[in-house]
Amino acid sequence: MAEEIRRNPDGAEEVAEAEVTEASVAVHWSEEEYYPPPMQFIAQANFTDPSIYDRFREEHFPECFKEYADLLDWYQYWHTTLDTSNPPFWKWFVGGQINACYNCVDRHLAQHRSKAAFIFVPEPEDEPHVAMTYQELYVRVNEVAAVLQELGLETGDRVTIHMPMVLELPITMLACARLGIIHSVVFAGFSGQACADRIVDSGSRVLVTMDGYYRNGKMLDHKVKADEAVEAAAQAGHPVERVLVWRRYPRQYQSQAPMVEGRDLFMDELLQRHRGARVEPVKMPAEAPLFLMYTSGTTGKPKGHQHSTGGYLAYTAWTSKMIQDIHPEDVYWCMADIGWITGHSYIVYGPLAVAATSVIYEGVPTYPDAGRPWRIAEELGVNIFHTSPTAIRMLRKADPDGPKNHPNVQFKHMTTVGEPIEPEVWRWYYHVVGKGKAVIVDTWWQTETGGFLCTTIPAIHNMKPGSAGPALPGIYAAIFDDEGNEIPAGSGRAGNIVIRNPWPGITQGIWGDPERFIQTYYARYNRDPNSKDWRDWPYFAGDAATLAADGYFRILGRVDDVINVAGHRLGTKELESAVLTVEEVAEAAVVPRVDELKGRVPDVYVSLKPGYTPSPEIQQKIVAAVEEIISKIARPRHVYIVPDLPKTRSGKIMRRVLAAISNGQDPGDVTTLANPEVVDTIRRMVQGEELAGAS
Ligand code: WT7
Repeated sequence: MAEEIRRNPDGAEEVAEAEVTEASVAVHWSEEEYYPPPMQFIAQANFTDPSIYDRFREEHFPECFKEYADLLDWYQYWHTTLDTSNPPFWKWFVGGQINACYNCVDRHLAQHRSKAAFIFVPEPEDEPHVAMTYQELYVRVNEVAAVLQELGLETGDRVTIHMPMVLELPITMLACARLGIIHSVVFAGFSGQACADRIVDSGSRVLVTMDGYYRNGKMLDHKVKADEAVEAAAQAGHPVERVLVWRRYPRQYQSQAPMVEGRDLFMDELLQRHRGARVEPVKMPAEAPLFLMYTSGTTGKPKGHQHSTGGYLAYTAWTSKMIQDIHPEDVYWCMADIGWITGHSYIVYGPLAVAATSVIYEGVPTYPDAGRPWRIAEELGVNIFHTSPTAIRMLRKADPDGPKNHPNVQFKHMTTVGEPIEPEVWRWYYHVVGKGKAVIVDTWWQTETGGFLCTTIPAIHNMKPGSAGPALPGIYAAIFDDEGNEIPAGSGRAGNIVIRNPWPGITQGIWGDPERFIQTYYARYNRDPNSKDWRDWPYFAGDAATLAADGYFRILGRVDDVINVAGHRLGTKELESAVLTVEEVAEAAVVPRVDELKGRVPDVYVSLKPGYTPSPEIQQKIVAAVEEIISKIARPRHVYIVPDLPKTRSGKIMRRVLAAISNGQDPGDVTTLANPEVVDTIRRMVQGEELAGAS
């Protein structure tokens, strides 16, 4: 809402109303009950020392974070913990030299050589799972690194990886990290076009892909998207020289797309030449970029967040050990996709840095039925479970008994992440999935932040349904109003959550666009653009939140135009751009509709160019365009063809009014709009239609 206020300085009424809407949500929420962490959890926990909050008080910042970096092996120790000479481009552990792959793989061989690093579970239930030991991971990562070297890739090059949830994905990432090559993993569900945008932006000359993978019982042809991506990148003036194709089953090609002579190579064939190869890890400066991860934002172009090697790895290692409570003897399963930041931080880098055994599951959780996760957990002895409110809602709807009839499923620890969780859903997670014996952490963070920012520490704090919890040690979080005044704890007022200080996991910036980085995250509350003091640079996260008297943050959702569908962050502008590729469309607005399962789904409103009449064919074309250009996950729930879109007098489309209509709410006072009469027409069309059951 705050963002909207900033965008519509011309509409005083809008300001007043936006404030009422947001604050009233917060004020009417009652405080939820506390749940103490189970005794048996505390007895075995990695971290039980509340004095950490003293050690990480502001007067000990930034040196306190040495504790995090000391979880890693350094070739060379750093001389400067935090360099603030070029705000807000912070540098952590400057002077240090480190290799992420070495820390995730090589250093565990001494103690954990034959322990599973990953257990891969294929989607087809009759295909056996594959346990890959640290030794095997080491061997395969080295061989892939040798292939990358043979192809002439060097430290600092970017490689785009468009791959599903298979072992070859983390192997490829780690091989890049071994050589200091910056990987950019694109979620496999994204289209060829979306992949192309990220290839072009990152300047990758090599694309790594896979022939196909299982999803919902079907072998999907994935290589075909690589051809689309290379084609689209070429049209944008960016040549891709090599496409490396992993095969889901070596030597059995699953795709209909032909291999392009001179460009496409099979990974299994390339690897034959490098059997047993060993490649020395490259000693990287702590602040060298480890990878790029793209997020959608308020404008069309996705932002490539650049994450560092030393700071990022220290931050994800510490939080994996202390917040995820991973011990080497645990079996940990994070159901997220590695194509998102959760998978990077809490399947690959953090867990491997602490010698975890992690499950990688190829398919959808409800295939062939909602009992699948519990059968996997039972068979593999999973005791740490990490997923999103969307998945929890989905499993709850499909089978409210959850793992009740699986006596061998007992988690000690569970995570919820990605969006606010409704207290009712939290209680089901706690009582039914956790059987009242598991601790839950609700971890609030973002792609930009590298790792968790707000959460309870599992053996120390009580849990409270719907609230993430206090900020982590060394994270000085606060709620600011629009003027930058701190809103005190316990006031019940909502505002913008900010982090007043830099921390080791924070993004180093947006690839190729430093100005946009400053504008998006720092311009809002910066006190002096010339200041070299971090205290003048509060980080604006873009989420609305409240802070309760007990110091727990409750996140209300995004303040900007991003629609979070089932944990996938989609930019309104990206979606609207896709809709506008349909010839007949004149104007488009995409708004979030609350959905019981997915959190939010997009609703599309369009007006047509003159001379066209509304038809189901046009609606179909719009749906197809969104699926094609963005992804199937972005599929609109409704496409409404309306006579005109509601606009302010300065011509800005009032998405807030449309969102209210989509969600069955009163659009409020619209008399200041340029075309108030259209609001009622749309409302009758949308809400009337629903009453008639036509949605
Ligand atoms: C946005 C970040 C965090 C990794 C996965 C998503 C929302 C995230 C929570 C939570 C309430 C949450 C926020 C945030 N969010 N975790 N525990 N409670 N909201 O990363 O795609 O960068 O999305 O997800 O709105 O800003 P992302």
